[in-house]
Amino acid sequence: MALAIDLSGRVALVTGATSGIGAGIAHMLAKAGAHVAGCGMSEPGSPKASAFKSAITTTGQRAFYHQTNVESPAELEAMVAAVVAEFGRIDILVSSAGRNVFKGAENCSEAEWMGNMDLNLASHWRLAKLCKPHLEASGHGMVQIMTSNHAWASIPGCFPYNVAKTALTGLVRSLAIEWGPKVRVVGIAPGFIETPGNDEWFASFPDPSQERDRTIRTHPAGKLGTCEEIGAWSAFLASDYAAFATGTTYLIDGGRLALLQDS
Ligand SMILES: NC(=O)c1ccc[n+]([C@@H]2O[C@H](COP(=O)([O-])OP(=O)(O)OC[C@H]3O[C@@H](n4cnc5c(N)ncnc54)[C@H](O)[C@@H]3O)[C@@H](O)[C@H]2O)c1
Repeated sequence: MALAIDLSGRVALVTGATSGIGAGIAHMLAKAGAHVAGCGMSEPGSPKASAFKSAITTTGQRAFYHQTNVESPAELEAMVAAVVAEFGRIDILVSSAGRNVFKGAENCSEAEWMGNMDLNLASHWRLAKLCKPHLEASGHGMVQIMTSNHAWASIPGCFPYNVAKTALTGLVRSLAIEWGPKVRVVGIAPGFIETPGNDEWFASFPDPSQERDRTIRTHPAGKLGTCEEIGAWSAFLASDYAAFATGTTYLIDGGRLALLQDS
């Protein structure tokens, strides 16, 4: 039989599951057999929430959606309680919700700094803590935290997003050494992924397809990443094949960071 990732019977909670990378991860975890609870900013009956649910149920798995602003500790608490009421367990937490906060070091206000740290750093820690007892009871408990290639190298103006994403690699290490062996904790650091946000980025150029081609040429892989590829990586990391993977962050950037000079 071919090697297969089997997450049957496990329950995954994926934040930011209504779009982009979180949606790709939710779908791939379901394809590997997990039931998936997802959250996002969209209302429960909205097209995005419905699309999330049908992407999961078409794989034969159960889906549950909870509208949650991860910046709110009270909403995080309510979401975890609702997921446990629905499924009775949480085995895999994928903390993916986040947003670009690109202000620049000089122009960033105190409020923008605090807002970024709440969303792109503290929310991951708060949610992991709320899930910890359920992950410990799982027997396969694991946390995946979505950081970024900006944790290694950044672009002028991407402050303070890159600061929070860099700090997440420290969060991954602390949770792994304090919560192991019952709970594994890894970071996932995607590079340039085909997402709605990056489509908008290309669309902001006078010639979007020329800019896309130029960007692709800076990637040794000869392509941009896809949400499904990040999802497959997430499914592997959640599986027992990755039982030795904890305490580190995996960069998946098509080789971009390996390239010292753009031609
Ligand atoms: N797109 C990329 O190339 C890329 C690269 C590296 C890292 N990332 C990271 O991956 C994650 C997802 O990025 P994406 O580009 O797929 O995003 P996206 O904008 O396509 O989707 C974001 C998701 O997060 C949810 N969300 C946003 N703010 C939220 C909040 N306060 N509370 C709850 N949910 C919220 C949205 O509802 C949506 O479901 C982010 O953490 C981002 O920093 C993305």
